[in-house]
Amino acid sequence: MNNLIELQNISKRYGEDTILSNLSLTVKKGTALAIVGDSGGGKTTLLSIMGLLQNTTSGRILIDNLDVGALNQQEQAKIRGKYFGFVFQRARLINSLTALENVMVPAWLTLKDKTLENRAIGLLTHFNMEHRLNHKPQQLSLGQLRRVSLARALLLNPPILLADEPTNDLDPSLATSVADCLLQARNTGTSVVIITHDPALAARADEVFNLQNGQLYRVAH
Ligand SMILES: Nc1ncnc2c1ncn2[C@@H]1O[C@H](COP(=O)(O)OP(=O)(O)O)[C@@H](O)[C@H]1O
Ligand SMILES: [Mg+2]
Repeated sequence: MNNLIELQNISKRYGEDTILSNLSLTVKKGTALAIVGDSGGGKTTLLSIMGLLQNTTSGRILIDNLDVGALNQQEQAKIRGKYFGFVFQRARLINSLTALENVMVPAWLTLKDKTLENRAIGLLTHFNMEHRLNHKPQQLSLGQLRRVSLARALLLNPPILLADEPTNDLDPSLATSVADCLLQARNTGTSVVIITHDPALAARADEVFNLQNGQLYRVAH
């Protein structure tokens, strides 16, 4: 089977508020899926549920055909580390470390491997950041910060990349280059799920869904 993520009849409520309502979605290997929708509609909530960062109220989640509902928190954390790379809305970089160190740090904790640095340099070079390896976050522009967090997310070649509004606040040419980097991850078999308000980015995804009233609607594009 080629399905990396299967959400089956997912619902999410906060108190009386229903954010996601009996929603189902399949993410196939090596494809890019964009999710658009109004602010406050539950897109970030949906992404964090997919990435096992948040529980559902009801429904089933299969990651690579494994029902994660049956797993305890520690086992879920293991799946999260094995399958997911995250690009959050805020870059969450460590200010005292260089760009290169920021890319390497999360992976270094679990995989002390000499090839890691070469791979990190390779990714940053690929993202046209080779002249900024030793810059600290406060010395980098927003677009550069976004590329550092993207390199960090891609370092271990995750099967799934989850990105929350990755081109937000970038001017069009930077947005295009960050989108290029994101979508290229498909070439190595990574599935990419992108939350976006950026029509140009959504248009480049393989599938687009609109999240509205807690439900996903396929958008023809
Ligand atoms: N931890 C929480 N507790 C209660 N309500 C929340 C929580 N997180 C998000 N919400 C609410 O859920 C709704 C969807 O939020 P979010 O997923 O961030 O939407 P989006 O990313 O589409 O803007 C919002 O109305 C938000 O206020
Ligand atoms: Mg959001």
